[in-house]
Amino acid sequence: MRKKIVAGNWKMNTLPAEGVELAKGVAAGKSAAGECANLIVCPPFTHLHSVVETLKDSGIAVGAQDCATEAKGAYTGEVAASMIAALGCKYVILGHSERRQYYGETSETLNKKMAQAYANNLTPIYCVGENLDEREANRHFDVVKAQIEEVVFNLSDEQFRNLVIAYEPVWAIGTGKTATADQAQEIHAYIREVLRSKFGAAADDCSILYGGSCKPSNAAEIFAKADVDGGLIGGAALKAEDFLAIATA
Ligand code: 13P
Repeated sequence: MRKKIVAGNWKMNTLPAEGVELAKGVAAGKSAAGECANLIVCPPFTHLHSVVETLKDSGIAVGAQDCATEAKGAYTGEVAASMIAALGCKYVILGHSERRQYYGETSETLNKKMAQAYANNLTPIYCVGENLDEREANRHFDVVKAQIEEVVFNLSDEQFRNLVIAYEPVWAIGTGKTATADQAQEIHAYIREVLRSKFGAAADDCSILYGGSCKPSNAAEIFAKADVDGGLIGGAALKAEDFLAIATA
């Protein structure tokens, strides 16, 4: 059985004290939501430590939003996977479309980051998704297939068993536009089929999350689909109440 997961990507939001308050709010209201899904929060680097401390014993896991391609050394401004793991984080988001789009991340970069994550026992939440032009040109299947083949296909079977995938159509991120539940199911099923072609039955155990303007009002319908195993939540993860309502969905 694959895990249901609802993860909050806080992006570059909240000051450290606000992040701790948000984490406390999520922990305080967790009971019902925690039975529905595994909860993860991904704050900015600057408050990973305090949020890990706040959520100790809460059953809520903490992840980072990125990690460096290299293990350590003269890479000013970078944060190594080992540093993230040493704080008690269990996950790292890799290949988010904002990183691909604004910071030029490519499959080559992401292969290195994936290797760093695994070397430090972090579970990657690997993001894929097409932009609006690609969707309109009906190229979304090819785009996500390439994003998977170029990175996920390089993993060993053992690494693959420790991977979460997030499908996030770029046109739905922060726009208020969501994929319909049927659009989400169609592409999630396709992603699973691509994974099955390489990893066989293990593809059925891989959690594939949907992300893009997910809210309490639309989450239940999307999450009800057979191949949607939860969500990666941006804006709505900044309010404990909304994040928990999504997880309960
Ligand atoms: P929104 O939920 O704000 O659309 O963001 C989705 C996302 O990018 C999560 O990683």
